[in-house]
Amino acid sequence: MKEIDRLIKAARKASNFAYAPYSKFKVGAALLTKSGIIYSGANVENASYGLTVCAERIALFKAVSEGKKDFRALAIYTKTKDFTTPCGACRQVLMEFSPNLSIIIINASGKIKKFSLSKLLPHPFAKK
Ligand code: THU
Repeated sequence: MKEIDRLIKAARKASNFAYAPYSKFKVGAALLTKSGIIYSGANVENASYGLTVCAERIALFKAVSEGKKDFRALAIYTKTKDFTTPCGACRQVLMEFSPNLSIIIINASGKIKKFSLSKLLPHPFAKK
């Protein structure tokens, strides 16, 4: 199986583990490291809604906390007709590590849209 297909499959699988009893909006993400390892994540909500963490940041934090800091691609899957692009907070956090990240969005029918992170977040905050 092609690496990109493995990544998409991992994002779709991760969405099943989303803990989203409040929004009922399940998101799966899968992040591919430069070395070819995939870290997946799903959104985890909380009764105190603002404490929710998005799928993308869960995948990223899993990877970074295991020593990986260089990434090639991120797949995001939601079982919806619309394509779910990462929220602003996740864009900023991803930018910290991989400005050239390729972002692959998959919808319910398996259609794909691709973006580059730098296009999704043209003027990120950076402490100079
Ligand atoms: N969510 C994500 O996990 N990723 C996104 O890119 C957008 C939003 C989650 C947060 C919350 O659990 C639910 O989707 C609805 O906002």
